[in-house]
Amino acid sequence: MEKLVIEGGHRLSGTVQISGAKNSAVALIPATILADSPVTIDQLPDISDVRTLCGLLREIGGKINFHDNILTVDPGGMVDMPLPNGSVKKLRASYYLMGAMLGRFRQAVIGLPGGCNLGPRPIDQHIKGFEALGAKVTNERGAIYLRAEALRGARIYLDVVSVGATINIMLAAVKAEGQTIIENAAKEPEIIDVATLLTSMGAKIKGAGTDVIRIDGVRKLHGCRHMIIPDRIEAGTFMIIGAAEGRNLLIDNVIPQHVESLTAKLREMGADIQVGEDQILISRRSDHLRSADVKTLVYPGFPTDLQQPLTSLLTQADGTSIITDTIYSSRFRHIDELRRMGANVKVEGRSAILTGPVQLEGAKVRATDLRAGASLVIAGLIASGITEISGIEHIERGYDHLVKKLQGIGAQVWRESIEDAEIQENLKERE
Ligand code: EPU
Repeated sequence: MEKLVIEGGHRLSGTVQISGAKNSAVALIPATILADSPVTIDQLPDISDVRTLCGLLREIGGKINFHDNILTVDPGGMVDMPLPNGSVKKLRASYYLMGAMLGRFRQAVIGLPGGCNLGPRPIDQHIKGFEALGAKVTNERGAIYLRAEALRGARIYLDVVSVGATINIMLAAVKAEGQTIIENAAKEPEIIDVATLLTSMGAKIKGAGTDVIRIDGVRKLHGCRHMIIPDRIEAGTFMIIGAAEGRNLLIDNVIPQHVESLTAKLREMGADIQVGEDQILISRRSDHLRSADVKTLVYPGFPTDLQQPLTSLLTQADGTSIITDTIYSSRFRHIDELRRMGANVKVEGRSAILTGPVQLEGAKVRATDLRAGASLVIAGLIASGITEISGIEHIERGYDHLVKKLQGIGAQVWRESIEDAEIQENLKERE
């Protein structure tokens, strides 16, 4: 096992290249199942979630080639193999295999992870959509069984605006008979990206990116080549790093419109941000950052995935800040770790309340989930002294070559192996 070690307090400059979007990638890869000839996806991030999904497609008979961030999937030989256990359970996004396999084979068995560190994450809206299309869905010993005689287009109103349900229903509906209408659909850029891939494969989809999506089912989908969108959450994470410690930090390969809500907040806090066509230049302008109140919302509101990273920056702001997560009520596992580093922060209901500025001090902390990990990395870059972060497997799920990218902008960060004795000591400390 390894930990991440960061020596904080260094100003960061240079250029950081943003990778393809994780939350698109985990849907685009299952979408390839629906084609009858090879699909190539360019600029896929090299992260463990992508590798896990490639492994799953191999398990069901796909031919996979993943090199230099280019993935080619030949779905020709895939079969409707049940996946009730194993690595399917490592990844919440394996729920996209349900929509894709149901769409192609009219049946699927997919095991699902239980609860997660963000609190309960139901998939009732996904299931409501599959059932409306004609599938029978049952949950047996932690695996979802889906079976349909035929899939028929339907009008589906989502009771909760859900990225996952919107994409999953699109995957199941593109090869259904007739028209499907998804109302109250989510509007995240990743949904447009998946619709773009499916359209290149021959699907007929209108309205992706609005709250009504219309899909006319087609009989066959073919292979194509697709370029994934840049990761707005990775870009946002580096923007926050720039607002904390940047001196002309250039974020390259970003769609500025995708990070507008963050740009506005960071400007409100006093960061200096210049926006180009596909680049953002960011610096910390003064020693005094202003406090801010932030509420996470569905796109184009402030993303829940940047709530934890922003919290670390808010420890540096003058006065009281309140950050409220309306999407995930328990996404606050990073707060205790930030307190170990000296942050003045408490959680009340769905909000974290911070008073700053404080000088964060390096400490031994643990990443409990992906974005909590990002928040601790940012805190480590700000803190004086050495921060050691364990649980980096969570970070590697979603950030492509994070250490290399940070080193490239001047951060003092490296990996070290964790000795068994240290693991025992950490466990004891936390009892
Ligand atoms: N919800 C329901 N029922 C459902 C589906 C969702 O009640 O059937 C609720 C959820 O509990 C949550 C809200 O609706 O409160 C929004 O959930 P959504 O379905 O939009 O989230 P998701 O599709 O499961 C994706 C990202 C998350 C990101 C959210 C919100 C992927 C693989 N995951 O999850 O990303 O936080 O959208 O934008 O795309 C991350 O990258 O760290 C991450 C967790």
